[in-house]
Order: sequence, then structure tokens, then C-alpha cells
Amino acid sequence: MNDSFDIIVIGGGTAGYPAAIRASQLGMSVACVERGATLGGTCLNVGCIPSKALLHSTELFADLSEGLEKHGIGVSGVALDLAQMISRKNEVVAGLTKGVEHLLKKNKVEWVKGSARFTAHDRLAVDLAEGGARSLTATKGIIVATGSDVARLPGIDIDEERVVSNTGALSLKKVPDHLVVIGGGYIGLELGCVWRRLGARVTVIEFLESIVPSMDREISRHLLKTLKQQGLDFRFQTKVTSVEKRPDDLLIAIEPSNGGATETLAADVVLVAVGRRPYTDGLGLDQVGVLLDPKGRIPVELGFKTVVLGIYAIGDVIAGPMLAHKTTLDGVRCVEGIAGRYPGVDYNTVPAVIYTSPEVASVGKTEEELKAAGVDYKSGTFPFLANSRARCNGDTRGLTKLLADAKTDRLLGAHIIGPDAGTMIHEAVLAMEYGGTTEDIALTTHAHPTLPESLKEAALVLLGQGMHI
Ligand code: NAI
Repeated sequence: MNDSFDIIVIGGGTAGYPAAIRASQLGMSVACVERGATLGGTCLNVGCIPSKALLHSTELFADLSEGLEKHGIGVSGVALDLAQMISRKNEVVAGLTKGVEHLLKKNKVEWVKGSARFTAHDRLAVDLAEGGARSLTATKGIIVATGSDVARLPGIDIDEERVVSNTGALSLKKVPDHLVVIGGGYIGLELGCVWRRLGARVTVIEFLESIVPSMDREISRHLLKTLKQQGLDFRFQTKVTSVEKRPDDLLIAIEPSNGGATETLAADVVLVAVGRRPYTDGLGLDQVGVLLDPKGRIPVELGFKTVVLGIYAIGDVIAGPMLAHKTTLDGVRCVEGIAGRYPGVDYNTVPAVIYTSPEVASVGKTEEELKAAGVDYKSGTFPFLANSRARCNGDTRGLTKLLADAKTDRLLGAHIIGPDAGTMIHEAVLAMEYGGTTEDIALTTHAHPTLPESLKEAALVLLGQGMHI
């Protein structure tokens, strides 16, 4: 058995497996060490993919249950088969994780099943999942792509049955009567919506004064309004101090974020969604001289190089947004750098999407960020109420907002809340990648009637030429 490779990637998630494939395409011999039973990491197994499968199923359920009368479609006898819904989700995950295994094989990447730990800057000891150990060496580099783990709250024990993280919340055996979500971020809102649509009462407890603090405020106000209309309850500037597991329910103690009187809530499931932390446990990084920053991340410089020659880090273990597509960008650029190409990345053009209904999608700077940086900017907003296709479809919630430099017109940010926002945002991403202006978007002919016309209209509004508003 060959134990020497050009590149060894630790972790087979959305950072690691694309890095391995790209390295192989560039002519390098590659091993990918992954101890999970399947490849794909958090995104494919317990993150993006299963949550989107459930979001889609539950949106169909909600539409059929209450949304079609206005179209003249009467539906009766809509019934939930939760076991089938979860099992379909599991099949989607199984198909895609098997697909990644096939891709590694096709690209001649060896999947070493086990847990790796550094014994030197170019050497790993791997405890194999099937028992035994292997010592592997890399001639061109070892890439750490071990991802992230749920951030825990002190004193709150996650058992994945009643007190769950994203993992347990994707496989509940029955619809909770009352789900309390701690954290009004991406996971809390998406999974809160899944269970709300199936009939649970959902209360979101958020430490700060708004949902998704990083989002453009105008957009987050719209999102909050629609989520409240869907029946989600919110408690802002509130923290959870304890969760007591009683035989029949959970007793949750909450108090104002900056201290004050304690209140209690009863629930049958609590979802802890207060963020994720970089996961580097057991890698032995300190023994080879790679130290973590105060947030537990691995510091890297251009090319994803750590302070130790030949050790690289990508994905959720380094700084930057914890988004699957950002981690893939890191992985590909990292190995291209090792192969002698330019390894730079621009996280400013990495889009972010929240798959609520309607979706929220953004790229670039928010209005608050531009104000704080003292940038002279212009803003153009167009509501879906004025978009003919949204009216045909009967879903006019939301708006498109573009932000551009006041002097050069260069696009600095795009924020969409509305139907298919996650699909539409890529027009703005491409424009920003090309250094485009809102005039470029306004001069681009958009097919009529389509939802993306809202981008063109927002650009026209920004330029003072708004036509349909
Ligand atoms: P998050 O960072 O999006 O949100 C966590 C929220 O919890 C924040 O609003 C924060 O203020 C709040 N919080 C923190 N401590 C708290 C406390 N003690 N009590 C109450 N609230 C508290 O983190 P989340 O939702 O756990 O997601 C983790 C990562 O996964 C994120 O980085 C996100 O980008 C990613 N993700 C992306 C998705 C997507 O792209 N659609 C979907 C799900 C997750």
C-alpha cells in the first residue's frame, strides 16, 4: 500500500473533497482522510442538503394545506407522513454522499477512512476506522479541512433527541408541540420554518435586537415581518440561562440579554443554533507549531498557508463566512496555489442565501456597512409587488435592493428578499466579479415577464430612471 502522496487533505467535506479532486486534476497524487461513514461533511450529511430537502417538502405541504384556493385549486385530504418525509430526505443525502465517493474514485483520490493527527509537518498518523493505523506522508502539502462543530451553551446538554443541534432537528420523530429555537440565525430560521410549517409552535430566542445580525437591516425587517405572519414568535435581546429536562417536557429559563428578571417557558424540543466553532480537536496542530487564534481558527496567509511550511488550512477552520460554497472556493484556490497558480480569493463576492419562504439572498456590502465605512453610495429598491411575473405567480412578497458607489456606479452590494432570491442573486454576483456597474445591469435586456427583471428595475431606480414604479 502506498503511504506517500503529493497532497493529503484532512476532511472530506465541501472544502476537502473539491480540493482533493482539483489537486488530482492538476496531476498530483492525493489522499483524503475522512473518518465519517460518508463523505460530504456537514453540508451534505447534516446541513445544507438535508435542510433544503425538508424545506422543499414542507413548503409543498404548506402550499397544499393553505395556499392554493386563490388559484382556484381546491385541495382536500392533505396529510403528513413525517416518516416518509424524513426518509426521502435521507435518500437525497445518501445519493449525494455516494456521488462524492464516486467522484473521488473517478479522480483517483484515495479515501483513507480514519482520524488523522500530525506527527510532523509532512506526516500524519491515521487511526483507521476498521482498526489499525497508517502513517502517511505528503511531499507537497497537508491541507486541514476539518470543518466546524455546533457551538454549545454552557450547562445545556445537547442529546439530539429533545435538546438538538441541526443534526437532531433534521430527524425528529414527531412534530413538536412547541419548539424553542435558541439563536435567530441561518439554522434557527430555516429549521424553525420547517417545523412551523408542519404545525409546531415555534419561539425563537435571540440574544441581539434583530434576526441575522449580519443582514442588511431593511431586508431583515421584511424577513421578520413575513416570518411573524407565518406564525413564528420572537423574543429579542433575550438569553437562555438553563434548560431543565423534565419527564414530559423541557423547562427553559430566559432573561434579558443584559440581565434582569428570569422567566420560564415550557417546550418539548429545544434547538441550539447559536453558531458554529472551527473544529480542530485531536489534530495535534500545536505539536507541529500551528497555533489557533482566539476564536479557535487557524490563521492563514495568501495561499491558505499556515505558519508551518507545507501545512495549509481551508474552509470553516479559517476566517471567513461559514458557507459551503466559500469552503469549496478555498479548497480549489489552495491547491491551485500549491500547483503554482494564483491562489487569491475575494469573500466580498461570496453570496449568502437563507432558504426561508421567501428566500433572502445577498452579496457584497450592506447599507449599514457602507455607512460605517463612510462610503458615498446610492441605493435603488424595487418591490416584487411591481414585478409582473410575481403578480402572475401570486407571490409579491419582498424587494430587490442594489447599492452602488455614488461616483463610479460600481455595484457594491445586492440584497433580495423574495421568491427565488437565491437563484436571482447570481446576476449581481457575476456583475460584481466583473467589476460591473448598475448601468451594466440596467442596460442588460431581461426577458419579460420574469422575476430577475426586478434587478434591472432596481438598477433603473438607482440611476433615477425607474420605469415601473
Ligand atoms: P448564525 O451565526 O447564523 O446565528 C447564530 C445566532 O445566534 C445569531 O443571531 C446570534 O446573535 C445568536 N446567539 C448567539 N448566542 C446566543 C445566545 N446565547 N442566546 C440567544 N441567541 C444567541 O449561526 P447558525 O444559525 O447556528 O449557523 C451556523 C453557521 O452555518 C452559520 O455560519 C451559517 O452561515 C451556516 N449556515 C448557512 C446556511 C445557509 O447558507 N443557508 C444554513 C444554515 C447554516
